[in-house]
Amino acid sequence: MAIVLGRPPADDVAEVLVDEATLAAKVRELGAKLTADYQGRDVVLVSVLKGALPFLADLMRAMPIHVALDFLEVSSYGSSTETSGVVRILKDLAKPIEGRHVLVVEDILDTGHTLSYVMTHLRGMNPASLRLCALLDKPARRQVQIEVDYRGFVIPDKFVVGYGLDFAERYRNLPFIGVLKPEVYAQDAG
Ligand code: IMP
Ligand code: MG
Repeated sequence: MAIVLGRPPADDVAEVLVDEATLAAKVRELGAKLTADYQGRDVVLVSVLKGALPFLADLMRAMPIHVALDFLEVSSYGSSTETSGVVRILKDLAKPIEGRHVLVVEDILDTGHTLSYVMTHLRGMNPASLRLCALLDKPARRQVQIEVDYRGFVIPDKFVVGYGLDFAERYRNLPFIGVLKPEVYAQDAG
């Protein structure tokens, strides 16, 4: 059988929305603000797998204070570019957060269904404080009202990939945020 070599992920990108240097500068800025705001307190960074991983990894290294990490995994039924609004917890936190200062670190706020569910779930565990840090925000798509305490970039109503964000589980490893060529979205890899 012949081996078919696929083209590299970057070849499928039509437009770079946020480049690497701009991402890095924003992460440093958010890290400095969080460091000042959480000074003298231990904070639990809670991320939703898997899209927030690159952001979390960079952000925590821009925070020279004590942090602990924990993870949630959720599934929302729907297609690869649309959330249905039905959210389910696949993996819950490993440790209780009662009385802890919790910062949710997320990749993107779209309709708001996922984060609204996650914030309510976490609030029910009685943390001392609960805040939200989202790298990207697409306000035009919002269906559920949600308060964002720390925001990276407001972006237009486009489906984006890279820096953790996927289309059909691909493109998470692109080091920038971009939009794919229309023909890539058309042939949903499943
Ligand atoms: P929401 O529940 O509609 O706010 O969607 C949140 C989740 O949908 C995110 O955590 C992402 O996994 C996914 N998502 C929303 N918009 C995009 C996008 O533009 N690119 C990739 N994933 C997205
Ligand atoms: Mg996704």
